[in-house]
Amino acid sequence: MSENKQFSSLSESKQGSWSGKFAFILAATGSAVGLGNIWKFPYITGENGGGAFVLVYLLCIAGIGIPIMMAEIMLGRRGHENPVNTMEDLARQEGASKQWKMLGWMGITAGIMIFSYYSVIAGWALSYFFDALRGVFSGITAELADHHFSGLLGSWTSLLGWHSVFTIMTIVIVARGVRGGLEKAVTILMPALFVMLILMVGYAMQNGEFKKAVNFMFSPDFSQLSGAAVLTAMGHAFFTLSLGMGAIMAYGAYLPKNVSIGATTITIALADTIVALLAGLAIFPIVFSHGLEPSSGPGLIFTTLPIAFGDMPYGSLFAGIFFLLLVFAALSSAISLIEPAVARLTEKRDISRVGATWLVGGLSWLLGIGSVLSFNLLSDDKLAGKTFFDWMDYLTSNIMLPLGGMLIAIFAGWVMQQKSSRDELAMNQLAYTLWLFLTRFIAPLAVFLVLLKVSGVLDAVTG
Ligand code: PHE
Repeated sequence: MSENKQFSSLSESKQGSWSGKFAFILAATGSAVGLGNIWKFPYITGENGGGAFVLVYLLCIAGIGIPIMMAEIMLGRRGHENPVNTMEDLARQEGASKQWKMLGWMGITAGIMIFSYYSVIAGWALSYFFDALRGVFSGITAELADHHFSGLLGSWTSLLGWHSVFTIMTIVIVARGVRGGLEKAVTILMPALFVMLILMVGYAMQNGEFKKAVNFMFSPDFSQLSGAAVLTAMGHAFFTLSLGMGAIMAYGAYLPKNVSIGATTITIALADTIVALLAGLAIFPIVFSHGLEPSSGPGLIFTTLPIAFGDMPYGSLFAGIFFLLLVFAALSSAISLIEPAVARLTEKRDISRVGATWLVGGLSWLLGIGSVLSFNLLSDDKLAGKTFFDWMDYLTSNIMLPLGGMLIAIFAGWVMQQKSSRDELAMNQLAYTLWLFLTRFIAPLAVFLVLLKVSGVLDAVTG
């Protein structure tokens, strides 16, 4: 009971602490596992040629994502506030420039930008949930599934409607500070999603080109790997682990002192990675058995999974459950996208939590209209080959999150005294040395080099 209370009041109370390590893992896993794993990972893997891309992604998770997640949790637990104030306070403590707080602001901006299109995609899942219940997918062919999806994208009014519904759902949860409730629900929903994915993989093994899919995902062909693909893989490592924008930092503020940051980080990263790989293994066998294009883009899961559901017994029911679980996974990620912004605004005192949430959510909703229209009315209006939605995704995942992550690594590895980080991480000497090495050299350097490559790409575009 008291656990529950502490849990649901976490957003209001600065002094609050997660009732335990388990609660923190739940919230952080809820943030990490979302559309990034099930919607985005398969389609960008398909667009970037498979195996080599997956390998780079896994290396980025291990070598960049894990050390930076540890750094972010560590900074959050030490700073104990929203990302802006946390960075400002920690910088003061370490005798560094208080301009480090700009890192917090960049994160808040990235969170709002991501939420703006995240809710558009979550809207697709909502719409598919109701379609599934109406039996739309029963016996559906590949062609009809494609037709159905194009129909949804073509109707900007539907997309706007679902975008609005999902945005409001998120706002209501964040505004009422009942996140704890949703995060508790994650204890049931996340394993349920996991079981559904296993079921889908089972179906794919029986009925799809499973071998071909495993080959596609796990045998790297480096001739398929472009510089842009490396950037996308790295950016996705940040996106899928919710890193580089302060979400994990904000949650870290509530992690009790005696919990091992290293062990919790590895648990979260492992769960996140397994879900993404399962999603790929559920989807690609169907892609290959129906002669579909792995590189067909953001619609990939929406055009393949219905075929599988349409073919299995009780398919409409399973499809309904699956898309509902996907909506919940998206919801527990979405709340962490706007939490830093809301927390910072509420600090100002002259605005209530409800007001702050509607303000942030409203702003993001407006911005999301650009993404809604990217799939229909404005689909041909491109800047350097990218629609508004493409730009939002590119700027946040491929630039802002890696940049934020790089600065977090620099702060944790160089600005912060080793005495502080050693004390906070409380690991054995070997693990600490490895973390320090990755955080000081590998993570920042890798991000820097890959971003340098992008600026070359940008030059080529503008030149
Ligand atoms: N990690 C979430 C996902 O994979 C998205 C997210 C990114 C959430 C950044 C919070 C912060 O869907």
